[in-house]
Amino acid sequence: MRSILLIIGGGIAAYKSLELIRELKKRGIGVTAILTKAGEQFVTPLAVGALTGEKVYQDLFSLTDETEMGHIELSRAADLVVVAPATADLLAKMATGLANDLASTTLLATDKKVLVAPAMNVRMWHHAATQRNIRQLKYDEVTFVGPGEGEMACGEFGLGRLAEPLEIAAAIETLLAPGDLPLKGKHVLVTAGPTREPIDPVRYISNQSSGKQGYAIAEVAVKLGAQVTLVSGPVSLPIPPGAGMMPVQTAEEMLKAVEQSLPADIAIFTAAVADWRVASAAGEKIKKKGDGKPPTLSLTENPDILKTIAARKSGRPKVVVGFAAETENVIAHAQEKLAKKSCDLIVANDVSVEKGVFGGDANTVHLVSKSGVESWPKLSKAEVAMRLMQKLAGLL
Ligand SMILES: Cc1cc2nc3c(=O)[nH]c(=O)nc-3n(C[C@H](O)[C@H](O)[C@H](O)COP(=O)(O)O)c2cc1C
Repeated sequence: MRSILLIIGGGIAAYKSLELIRELKKRGIGVTAILTKAGEQFVTPLAVGALTGEKVYQDLFSLTDETEMGHIELSRAADLVVVAPATADLLAKMATGLANDLASTTLLATDKKVLVAPAMNVRMWHHAATQRNIRQLKYDEVTFVGPGEGEMACGEFGLGRLAEPLEIAAAIETLLAPGDLPLKGKHVLVTAGPTREPIDPVRYISNQSSGKQGYAIAEVAVKLGAQVTLVSGPVSLPIPPGAGMMPVQTAEEMLKAVEQSLPADIAIFTAAVADWRVASAAGEKIKKKGDGKPPTLSLTENPDILKTIAARKSGRPKVVVGFAAETENVIAHAQEKLAKKSCDLIVANDVSVEKGVFGGDANTVHLVSKSGVESWPKLSKAEVAMRLMQKLAGLL
């Protein structure tokens, strides 16, 4: 069985490590935990032990622990060491090679890969000392997941939130994947589904996208060893196992989630983003006035997510792929889109009603790039996903 050693540091976000343990157990990944002294102030050894089903290690100088399993053996018994939440203190100890408690000694003694999920106050995160430690750790080939941006427990706002447990679990799956997978160690970002643009609290503008093609791509990318972030509009599909999920509703939310998920090696934009939204959605349900006159909806253009990301000067994914849903002149429109959006590849599909692409399980696509057009026969969406991801892995 694949297994990790989870080091839980002393931060408010330590409670999320319990959710992470549950998620990993669901995926068949064994977890042994070390709880720092500060970590114990936030979660109890009893809760951690009950969820891992294993002994929880806390002391470096424990006679019983050392006789049962020495700290050196503990540091090497698992396939991967994960620090979540990683406090500023733990990052500093790791960067300087301190070994003055069980967690830091284990981190120094391990011969396994280390993944850290930092969580701290925004000022602590941006402090020159923390940033210096992070640079050093990246140089030492420590892998990072997060932090995210948002409201903090301390009331401030900014970078420093622990990555979501699903995202951390996805990063763990990637690092545990066998070494010969073509997308191992790569981060693949996929958008999928429609967006939903509110008219008022109960009505919205949306489209027919089922999200099936994007979800199939995310699933295949996980299978090929990638760390996958799936930014999805509202669909009724199960989350592909192993993918980190960011659910959104509107185009603006989708753009924000995509930007937060960067950097990525490959970004594939399959989502059917609404081109327009209602300029100012009503705060209350719009009522009939009884005069027979319908309300006027004034629309405004949504951000162009593909174009925004493909045009980034810094942090542009190495490969940017757009999907073009067209109902006529499929290839010509895709060629125009390729030129306008400065992406590397457009996957064009004919979504006219008679083709049954929206909601269906098959797709006929044309791959349009600067080097020409490649047309594939009618394939299942799963097969399109597999062929596409293998092609993109080759491009990297
Ligand atoms: C209420 C409270 C919340 C804290 N939250 C964090 C945090 O989120 N991130 C962090 O780096 N330190 C946080 N700290 C400080 C750490 O607990 C402190 O640096 C401790 O020495 C870390 O020990 P450890 O790295 O061995 O777990 C917090 C302290 C308190 C009292």
